[in-house]
Amino acid sequence: MRQRDTFIRQVLAANVLLIVASLFAASLVGGFDFGSSEGRNQFLVLALAVSLTLVVNIVVLRRRFKPLENLIEEIEGVDPAKPEDFQAERVDVEEVRRLAAAFAVLLERIAGERNRSTSLVMRAQEEERKRLARDLHDQVNQSLTGVVLRLQAISHDADPKLAGELLEAKALATQAMEELITLARQLRPTALDDHGLVPAIGGQVRRFSEQTGIEAELLTRGELGELTPDRETAIYRVAQEALANVARHSDASKVEVALAGAPNGSIALTIRDDGRGFAARDGGGMGLGGMGERARLVGGELSVESHVGEGTRVTLRIP
Ligand SMILES: Nc1ncnc2c1ncn2[C@@H]1O[C@H](COP(=O)(O)OP(=O)(O)O)[C@@H](O)[C@H]1O
Ligand SMILES: [Mg+2]
Repeated sequence: MRQRDTFIRQVLAANVLLIVASLFAASLVGGFDFGSSEGRNQFLVLALAVSLTLVVNIVVLRRRFKPLENLIEEIEGVDPAKPEDFQAERVDVEEVRRLAAAFAVLLERIAGERNRSTSLVMRAQEEERKRLARDLHDQVNQSLTGVVLRLQAISHDADPKLAGELLEAKALATQAMEELITLARQLRPTALDDHGLVPAIGGQVRRFSEQTGIEAELLTRGELGELTPDRETAIYRVAQEALANVARHSDASKVEVALAGAPNGSIALTIRDDGRGFAARDGGGMGLGGMGERARLVGGELSVESHVGEGTRVTLRIP
């Protein structure tokens, strides 16, 4: 395969051509006599000078192009998810400096665009969940209530042989109603809209404890102040996913959820369990990744500390 041209090679080739051409012209004008030994000596000196010029040329060009190569390496190594990591080294070559600045601006724009579209998607998702939860609650639940009432009415004057069957059917319908309510609540906690963040998380912790048998408590500290709906949702969803992980993976006997507000308006949510822990890797699964994404979108950050045998602590910090 043909090697691709580099800047250095192109400039060198042009220089070689120029030098050889001027050497040729000079020897024509100077009327070198290649026959005489004096002419040959003069030509040798000239050729030596040309070679030296070339070597110096190569060294100088290499040095001049070094900042450009460094920048390319830097750009190739950039992680688009972490635009703040891009730090072009300070150079005093105008073009390279401008190239680095342009790239930094581009990265920032991509990150901004990505944030915007992700938060749009998440907002749309929450809206859709809210609608679904309402439909489940208002419509399907109403119909099931109707079924239960009808069964009750029928069982009054039904053949006693059928009474047992009817009772069973009623119990099933009632169970379906309860499952439906739980599902609707998971989809969109009406408590969050109706009562606010702390009661909503309180309810979540209580239900978690009832369903899993794991001892769970919510501690609140400081003032939370006015929170935007986006932030409330992020905090609620991180608590939800972290608790779901405790239920699914931890084998814990106790979990502590702490929500603390600092006077400067920053908020910290911590979910700590005493379970089996895990070797936390970069990124984690969908759940851990999703929590990180939610944190980032409201300007916060998520950290997961876990060691095998020592439990897990998930912390969401929003400045
Ligand atoms: N509280 C926890 N205790 C023990 N292991 C955990 C805990 N939270 C997460 N993990 C581990 O981290 C992995 C990734 O979690 P997550 O991203 O939520 O994915 P998922 O829950 O779908 O498996 C889990 O599969 C589990 O092995
Ligand atoms: Mg999970």
